[in-house]
Amino acid sequence: LNYNVNRERRFILQLLFNGLRRLEYRGYDSAGIAIDHDQPLVFRQEGNIESLVKSVYQEVDALGLDLEESFCVHAGIAHTRWATHGEPAPRNSHPQTSGDGNEFLVVHNGVITNYQAYKAVSYYGIARYDNFSLFLFAYVLRETLIRHGFTFESETDTEVIPKLAKFVFDKANEGEGSHTVTFSEVVLEVMRHLEGAYALIFKSPHYPNELIACKRGSPLLLGVKLHASVNVSLWLGFNQDFNEESKSGSTFHDSKFLSNNDHPKELFLSSDAHAIVEHTKKVLVIEDDEVVHLKDGNVSILKFDNDKGRHAGSLSRPASVQRALSVLEMEVEQINKGNYEHYMQKEIHEQPESLKTTMRGRLIRGGSCKAKTVLLGGLKDHFKTIRRSRRIVFIGCGTSYNAALAARPILEELSGVPVTMEIASDLLDRQGPIYREDTAVFVSQSGETADTLQALEYALENGALCVGITNTVGSAIARHTHCGVHINAGVEIGVASTKAYTSQIVVMAMLALAIGGDTISSQTRREAIIDGLFDLPNKVREVLNLDQEMKDLAKLLIAEQSLLVFGRGYNYATALEGALKVKEVALMHSEGMLAGEMKHGPLALVDENLPIIVIATRDSCFSKQQSVIQQLHARKGRVIVMCSKGDAVSVCPGGLGRVIEVPHVEDCLQPVINVVPLQLLAYHLTVLRGYNVDQPRNLAKSVTTQ
Ligand code: G6P
Repeated sequence: LNYNVNRERRFILQLLFNGLRRLEYRGYDSAGIAIDHDQPLVFRQEGNIESLVKSVYQEVDALGLDLEESFCVHAGIAHTRWATHGEPAPRNSHPQTSGDGNEFLVVHNGVITNYQAYKAVSYYGIARYDNFSLFLFAYVLRETLIRHGFTFESETDTEVIPKLAKFVFDKANEGEGSHTVTFSEVVLEVMRHLEGAYALIFKSPHYPNELIACKRGSPLLLGVKLHASVNVSLWLGFNQDFNEESKSGSTFHDSKFLSNNDHPKELFLSSDAHAIVEHTKKVLVIEDDEVVHLKDGNVSILKFDNDKGRHAGSLSRPASVQRALSVLEMEVEQINKGNYEHYMQKEIHEQPESLKTTMRGRLIRGGSCKAKTVLLGGLKDHFKTIRRSRRIVFIGCGTSYNAALAARPILEELSGVPVTMEIASDLLDRQGPIYREDTAVFVSQSGETADTLQALEYALENGALCVGITNTVGSAIARHTHCGVHINAGVEIGVASTKAYTSQIVVMAMLALAIGGDTISSQTRREAIIDGLFDLPNKVREVLNLDQEMKDLAKLLIAEQSLLVFGRGYNYATALEGALKVKEVALMHSEGMLAGEMKHGPLALVDENLPIIVIATRDSCFSKQQSVIQQLHARKGRVIVMCSKGDAVSVCPGGLGRVIEVPHVEDCLQPVINVVPLQLLAYHLTVLRGYNVDQPRNLAKSVTTQ
């Protein structure tokens, strides 16, 4: 929402389009936008943002609309959609509408679970606001609304929301003595009937120059761009509850936020900081069940409370809370490609620096006591509990899960605590046991992955100590865990995670060192790892020199259907992660396998055509991997071996097969080195095969729906 005089409407369009471009990295298959004219104009398009931009300007020209008109306040909304319910198509894109006239428009991030599926009839009772009341049977929302005369044009779960808003609005305004319902009253009533996860923005011609946003489960940020003369370290005073008394109670206007002379110039609502950071770094992270009301350039925040709405008589005076605006640490330059062609390429090559940032201030070597230690401030009050845990349970998805798997052996070794691994969705499917005596570690680059978040909720309910390891300050996982460590890898844009992976491993290696504490028996080992960590950025720089070699290998593999990667011990995770990269971006079938399991099935696949990468760098599994290589050669397998520098002859006697030589580091840090050539291979394969590196088909950077 832009509060500014004498700007052009075209500017709003540009601003929204740019916001969408900033969100492209998350993955999407269609996009849409709504801006004001006499009536709201809605444009929706399948495909990329540029096809939306083109269609908007074409339509605007065809309608002969004047977009240069000036205005004081303008409320526009836009959205990129990653299809969950219904194919990518304009009718399924957002904004979804209440029907003809676009009386209510909604963009949604999340999933509504009670839109269609049958659920036992539950009567939500009568909500009363002043002098209107409404009835709604809130089961199977879509069916209910169809019975009330609504027709649906999409297959989305979202479409019930604007239609429900219209239903609530019409009910409130019908009959004698009808009350003029406010926009926030409409939205609060809609929220009462929604189940699932959502961040929503509502727009309506009944409420010009207003926007309402609310959230439960999915992320939402409010960005505030203030006039230069306004003090930026303002404290915000909020209405915590929504009820009748709050209308006469303290409101945003008479709180400490902004005086009449100090209007914010622009207000932004987004599910992702990337869309906001070029305009302002001052944001408020909206919490679950908060409702943000932007009206004529002012902000108020209400707290939804389902119980209070149900029992109209029991409403109490709202407690006012104060919260500070947060400042985003992200820099605009970080979200540009610099001199690289793709974000993934940039992020792979950035790893020496990102690893340094991850370790900065956390490794102590020398000083007066000459001790080598690790400092993880976010956990300092919890180490005792972690050491006494019955288990440490790592929970994550995709690359984050692989990173935890790579760190598992060193954690087991140094902590002496059993470490188990859980893929978040699988833990939830099984409702696997989590105990009060467990330490549950949630690993997530984005900090917003729906499966991981729900597993966190589950672990909290079961009373475990919950630790977060995330790259996103202020993310849901960072906020809802008891304690944690930020990986500080910097913004990661490429959907295929690269630098976050290596930084996650380093954070978890530091975690192992810190939990290991000062145990005398492992002191030499710990110090060797700390020395290895200090040197790791240099070694990563060295392994990046394999870029051309991996490009050449990619040329050889360009037309293959399939690629296997065998690893074990510390590098089982490397095999999984390398194969995941190839699968994700190069769209080539690829599997990471535990080399110890080779004889139990995968060996049947081996022939002279199928390329197999075997990771055989120096560690305690080296001789076992040598034996695996021999068995593959014995079956005329097409073997590519990754080995430590100087080992080419011993891993490929007689010059059989191809070799990738990498620098040798401490065994538990070797996965950081070994994954880099595989990242480069996946990158080059993708470019050579002509696929989109940064937005792989069907994938999203952060999967916020289950
Ligand atoms: C998606 C992404 C993956 C990522 C996974 C977990 O599937 O495409 O690259 O590894 O989510 O994401 P998180 O943000 O929790 O690490």
